[in-house]
Formats: sequence, C-alpha cells, structure tokens
Amino acid sequence: MTTDPIQRLLDEHVELMSKFEPLRTAVHLLGEGGEGAMPRVLPLLREANRVMTTELLAHAEREDDVLFEAVEEELGKEFGPTVVMREEHRDIHGSVTLFRDTLHELNQVEHPAIHSSIGELQRLTESGAPAEVLRRTGANLIAMLDSHFGKEEEILFPIAREVLSRQVLAEVGRRMDELDRRGTAPQGGG
Ligand SMILES: [Fe+2]
Ligand SMILES: [Fe+2]
Repeated sequence: MTTDPIQRLLDEHVELMSKFEPLRTAVHLLGEGGEGAMPRVLPLLREANRVMTTELLAHAEREDDVLFEAVEEELGKEFGPTVVMREEHRDIHGSVTLFRDTLHELNQVEHPAIHSSIGELQRLTESGAPAEVLRRTGANLIAMLDSHFGKEEEILFPIAREVLSRQVLAEVGRRMDELDRRGTAPQGGG
C-alpha cells in the first residue's frame, strides 16, 4: 500500500532535520575554532555532504517532479508558491554544490599523492578557505532549509491537500515510489 505522499514528505523533513543536526554542531565549532576545528568537524561535514547529495536532493526531486507538477496541473505553472519553492530548490542545490566541491578540494589536498599538495594547501589556507567557506555555506544551507521546509509545511502542502483529489494523491504516491525504484539500485531483503 502506498503511504500518503504529503505525509511521506513531512516525515522526510523531520528525518532530514535530525540528520543535519551534526552540521549545526560543525558550523558552531568552526565559528569558534576556525581552521583549528577542522580535524574534529571533518567527519561531521562529510556525513552532512552525503545526506545533502543523496537524500536531500532525492527529496527535492520528489517535490519538483511529482507533487509540484500535480499542483501545477490544477493551479497552473505560474502558481506563486510552487514557483518560489522551485527557485529555493535551485538556491539550495547551488549551496550543496559549493559545499561538495570545497570538501572535495580539501580531500585532494589531504591526499598529496594525487595532488601537487604544498602550494595548493598554502593557497587554500591563505585565502581563509576551506574552513570558512564550509562554515558559511553550511550555515547558509541550514538557514535556507529551516525557512524552506517551514514554507512547504505551512503553505504549499496544505494547498496541495486541498486541491488534489484522493485519486490524484494516490497517483502522486505511486509516481514517487516509481522514482525511488529508478533512483536506487535493487536491494536484497525487500
Ligand atoms: Fe522542497
Ligand atoms: Fe520538502
């Protein structure tokens, strides 16, 4: 049986927020300790990066490609709330890319065998990056997500519930399940 798709997205908000708690901690520690906090926060940043580039993007895809599309079929493509939410997804994805690339760059510096390390490390350290870039981008992402999830929960999801019939909602749920099957490798054990 397919779960109510709006409830599914709400549950994902709660789950994503709890998975980003370590990022809040990392941002705080970087604010206090700067570059010196990096050894301690690096595992937290890597885990946050994993959640952003997999679960968060998949969540936004379920909204953009399925739920918002269904709402726009009822209310039109110019419908303000979905236009704004789609724009915010693009902003969030821009920050996710910057966060991911900065971590990647740092990773290359940490493995000198695959990089001309000394000059590169100096360059990064002198420009204040990457600790400051990661702190700023992480803080920005948290602020954007807090506000974005709030708007979906307070405005867009209630509208969707009002305008989508029970049959359309069931279809939205099925299409989200289909996206899951396309997006992930088959796993044993059902
Ligand atoms: Fe969203
Ligand atoms: Fe969402």
